[in-house]
Amino acid sequence: MDLIPAPRVVLLDQEGRRYAFGPQGPSLGAGPGTAAVARRLRAELGAATGWDLPAAGDGRAGDLRLRIDPDRDWDLGPESYLIDIGPDGVELTGASATGLFWSAQTLRQLLGPDAHRRAPATGRPQGPPAWSLPHGTIADGPRFGWRGMMLDVARHFMPKDGVLRYIDLLAAHKLNVLHLHLTDDQGWRIEIKRHPRLTEVGAWRARSRRGHRASPLWNETPHGGFYTQDDIREIVAYAAERHVRVVPEIDLPGHSQAAIAAYPELGNADVVDTAALGVWDDWGISENVLAPTEAVLRFYEGVFEELLELFPADVSPFVHVGGDECPKAQWKASPAAQERIRELGVDGEDGLQSWFVRHFDGWLAERGRRLIGWDEILEGGLAPGAAVSSWRGYAGGIAAAEAGHDVVMCPEQQVYLDHRQAAGGDEPMPIGYVRSLEDVYRFEPVPPNLSPEAAAHVLGAQANVWTEVMENQDRVDYQVFPRLAAFAEVVWSWQPAPEERDFAWFEGRMAAAHYARLDALGVAYRPPGGPLPWQRRPGVLGRPIEGAPPIV
Ligand code: ACM
Repeated sequence: MDLIPAPRVVLLDQEGRRYAFGPQGPSLGAGPGTAAVARRLRAELGAATGWDLPAAGDGRAGDLRLRIDPDRDWDLGPESYLIDIGPDGVELTGASATGLFWSAQTLRQLLGPDAHRRAPATGRPQGPPAWSLPHGTIADGPRFGWRGMMLDVARHFMPKDGVLRYIDLLAAHKLNVLHLHLTDDQGWRIEIKRHPRLTEVGAWRARSRRGHRASPLWNETPHGGFYTQDDIREIVAYAAERHVRVVPEIDLPGHSQAAIAAYPELGNADVVDTAALGVWDDWGISENVLAPTEAVLRFYEGVFEELLELFPADVSPFVHVGGDECPKAQWKASPAAQERIRELGVDGEDGLQSWFVRHFDGWLAERGRRLIGWDEILEGGLAPGAAVSSWRGYAGGIAAAEAGHDVVMCPEQQVYLDHRQAAGGDEPMPIGYVRSLEDVYRFEPVPPNLSPEAAAHVLGAQANVWTEVMENQDRVDYQVFPRLAAFAEVVWSWQPAPEERDFAWFEGRMAAAHYARLDALGVAYRPPGGPLPWQRRPGVLGRPIEGAPPIV
């Protein structure tokens, strides 16, 4: 049936019988607790098919029946579901509302690619086509509870509509975490009412380098944008309806030049003229990092106070504080930072970095939240509830899990989707490792030698989408798809060891149905044969540059 991600168990009627819906479509029998999923079905399936999905009449079960049954013996956890299709209709049963929601995504895939459109594509005067489903049973549930994608909206801003669209795309692939990288050297993307200059000044830059750092080209068009607090509330609520959690990231104490450009007192003003700094227009890691002062802590506590209101704990217990890649040159040169090291009794400049992170670790824990940060945060020792995004390979994640911390695996060598997906000069602005669709399909979130206790701390994995060389949504689509479909199968489906995975089977399902689903969804994916002419960026250098030794 070409489902992606592949369900655990599919039992099909041996005789190939099908249940056919009439032109008016099914009636909907919505059991207790299923109203939200019924609403989504009416909105999404109704739009694609033209069906009204009227409520089943009194005493009638309905042709399409929704149920939540937490008491059944679901061995795949609370996100599990069952689909039964027989002569008397279709039954979707979730272990929870979330499981039921995933069953509706499977139902959409079963109906065919056109079920992913926003209006019936037939245009036929005689009405919609007959939709039908195979008789059979599907029993399914996820391998991991954290199935995520990180989107960097700081380097290139993705307008709100694009974020909502990505939430739909994640949900269609049964992914359930959107980690939003909201701040960096090159932009601050979230309104903070008590510090308005963060967006007045920090949300745009005058120009951007076009291509990677090695490129001599510039795009002289100003770039910017930010989400108002109401935009964020809308994004969070939209995601929640689709059982996707949004995890916000405010990166500190490095990757902070946009904030310093807005409020120069946040920077190391004794060694650099912070008042003269703008939002960074280049790529890389800025030397302009936060000053290690109490005033800076108070400033960021204010930021996080507003953030916690926008991201309620039941939606996102985790708050990401970045903590990665903090250059130390300014702290080394700064008499004020050196004095601070002595006062705090911390271990040099590295100790200052962990002092920042530990402060917010405690601050968030006091408010019932959990800190998550890039694996550098391990270096200073962490409070028990803190979790780690393991990006510099698996090592940080292994160390964290062995020390009893929860871990999200996102090693850059495997699941950084900014990295090129094929060798050769045709890939647009090619950077990093070659990581093909097959490579992503063979990504394994749990390293082989982890003890069972440590492996239980691997919450799951996420694919990270850094946008330096993705200047718009089409470029993001190109980097993300089809690889995110392979990633979704890795984190949802049961998988043998990487080398034993049947990539040909996955590719077959992609070709038979999933590319058509992506077409119906309007995704500008990388075609299997390579980029279309307008997807190329001839003459824009990536890294490593052509002829240079590979960095793999
Ligand atoms: C990162 O890629 N700096 C987390």
